Amino acid sequence: MKELSKKIETLRALIKKYDDAYYANNISLITDYEYDKLVKELEELESTYTSNSLFPAERIDNEISPTQKVGSDLNKGFRKIKHSKKMLSISNSYNKNDLIEFDERVKKILGQNTDVKYSIEHKIDGVAISLTYADRELKYAVTRGDGVIGDDITVNAKTISNLIKRTDLDFDFELRGEVYIPKQDFLEFNKYRADNGLDLMANPRNTASGSLKLLELEEVKKRPLKLMVYYLNGNDSIDGDYGMKCHSEKISFLRAHNFPTPEYLKVCNNIDQAIEECEYWEKNRNDLGYEIDGMVIKVDDTSLYGKLGETSKYPRWVMAYKFVPEKVETILNNIEFQVGRTGAITPVAILEPVEIAGTIVKRATLHNQDEIISRDLRIGDAVILEKAGEIIPKIISSVKSKRSTGSKEFKMIESCPVCNEKIFKPEGEAIYRCINSSCPAQIEKRIEHFASKGAMDISGLGIKIVQLLVSNNIINNISEIYSISKSDISSLEGFGDKSAKKLLDNIEESKEKSLENLLFGLGIRYVGKEASIILAKYFKDIDKFMKANILELENIDGIGTKIAESIVLYISNGKNIDLVEKLIYFNLNTKFIEGELKFNENISNKSFVLTGTLENYSREEIKKIIFSYGGKVVSTPSKNTSYILVGVEPGSKLRKAEKLGVQVITESELIFFTNK
Ligand code: IVH
Repeated sequence: MKELSKKIETLRALIKKYDDAYYANNISLITDYEYDKLVKELEELESTYTSNSLFPAERIDNEISPTQKVGSDLNKGFRKIKHSKKMLSISNSYNKNDLIEFDERVKKILGQNTDVKYSIEHKIDGVAISLTYADRELKYAVTRGDGVIGDDITVNAKTISNLIKRTDLDFDFELRGEVYIPKQDFLEFNKYRADNGLDLMANPRNTASGSLKLLELEEVKKRPLKLMVYYLNGNDSIDGDYGMKCHSEKISFLRAHNFPTPEYLKVCNNIDQAIEECEYWEKNRNDLGYEIDGMVIKVDDTSLYGKLGETSKYPRWVMAYKFVPEKVETILNNIEFQVGRTGAITPVAILEPVEIAGTIVKRATLHNQDEIISRDLRIGDAVILEKAGEIIPKIISSVKSKRSTGSKEFKMIESCPVCNEKIFKPEGEAIYRCINSSCPAQIEKRIEHFASKGAMDISGLGIKIVQLLVSNNIINNISEIYSISKSDISSLEGFGDKSAKKLLDNIEESKEKSLENLLFGLGIRYVGKEASIILAKYFKDIDKFMKANILELENIDGIGTKIAESIVLYISNGKNIDLVEKLIYFNLNTKFIEGELKFNENISNKSFVLTGTLENYSREEIKKIIFSYGGKVVSTPSKNTSYILVGVEPGSKLRKAEKLGVQVITESELIFFTNK
């Protein structure tokens, strides 16, 4: 008995760990399939324990078990809203028999001779959302949270492209549905991220749920989120709820009122037909434009829901049929390293080519070295590759029993595979980086950034021209921009005498930019526009900046440890020192030009906190205005904050600022200051 309770405790702790990572941080530590297996094992152990136990004292408190409550996605920083009715999850099954048992359970409750029709839909792999409409408009969008209360994500949800904000329905109601990212949009979004030197997203589901919890509205707007509504929350036990009898009718009604409803919904006369549909879609899921991880089977007659009732976690009128992920075995032939355009170094598994879910797979990303070490993957191992809902195949484990003595233990590289410079892993991060600003793998991106608007603003030197110049060996690092001659470029495709001269004039002009532009242009990790201004104001000249030490940097108001550490790494790299020396040699201005920043007694040297959605400017634009007058923007209010600038639907920062006595201003008041 002791052993059993110990096992239960271990399983509960393990599942809780996976739940926290998945619901609160959008990270899948194991596959859904493995997760469901663990939950099932725990459920069985718990029921054995309770039924075997002769002494009540030995019984364990099932209330605290993850088998008894839905995982919580609640995050700090969001207003909490109570659901009108508990927002439950659905019970999962993986085979035909589970569905037959579901049908038997339903009939046991309703009476053996009840004719039960099932409505069946795709189970879209996204994140659940509740939408409350009142007075013909969307009032709240709330996450599932812990099932009882959820996070208010209304502002973010309003960016979902097919979400209806106003309706012609003149009664108040609540809808529940799934927010997701279509496959093609996800691939394009990741391409956009790769092109912009940002880390890639792991999969559409985690990206969708992460997006709804972002605090920067401008960033949420970039996410290609979509909505599918699968439930009209009414008084289910009433026959003729909202004047309708069944789920399929309610969905048609919502569709007629322009809500995005399931693309596929079929009413089946019995469970056998429903099983046929599940099997069909299991084979044909790859044809769909969105990822599905299974099918959802619902009793169609909603007036039966009251009688069927619910457990603490699931309603008894619905069941998910989850697809078993496809798995294949292959050999891990090698682990290579890829250097991204921002210097991120990711290990890539080179596999013995193998077919999975209709495609031949030769490579699989391993994300980072910790993943390899924790899974103890060795070169030469037989490995299990899995493609569940995900577009990208994953190595889930190695087959230890097949390990040969010749298998090679993994060792992380110490220098960049492209430029040979020593690589670094910033503290608290999982990924190693190459910080050499002249590393060929990163050079195009770095030059593009250097020439971009917020930096040296060299018009005509966008990514296409940079690629042309690099591929023709005209420039190989940032400083070589300043040694381009007319004859180098006038014969290149797309250039004539005139355009070559124009580009060279623009390059020449950029030499006069102030120090903050140059610092930003160097592309030091974490040193964005704001930090560059702070640093330029403080150091005044690049010479002093290049000699800074960690203590001095950390002491500068507005420069945190992360930025300071990143700068120290940058300025201690020989290649970067060479680069700055060359820029000095080419006569670039390396000093802070005071006059560039305007003075305004209300803004200069004042600190601002922004909250809510601004009406006339984006956050970036407002920040620029504040910076241009020598003010600064901080993320949380403190007693030293001068103003809190409030937009529409301000967050909890406003309350905090008011308590601290921080002066509240609006967007138009700030603009009024600038006109004074
Ligand atoms: S019905 C009362 N229908 O899958 C529960 N859920 O793993 C009503 N999901 O919590 C849920 N597609 O977030 C329903 N067609 C669909 C769905 C669907 C995806 C999600 C939903 C649910 C989760 C369970």
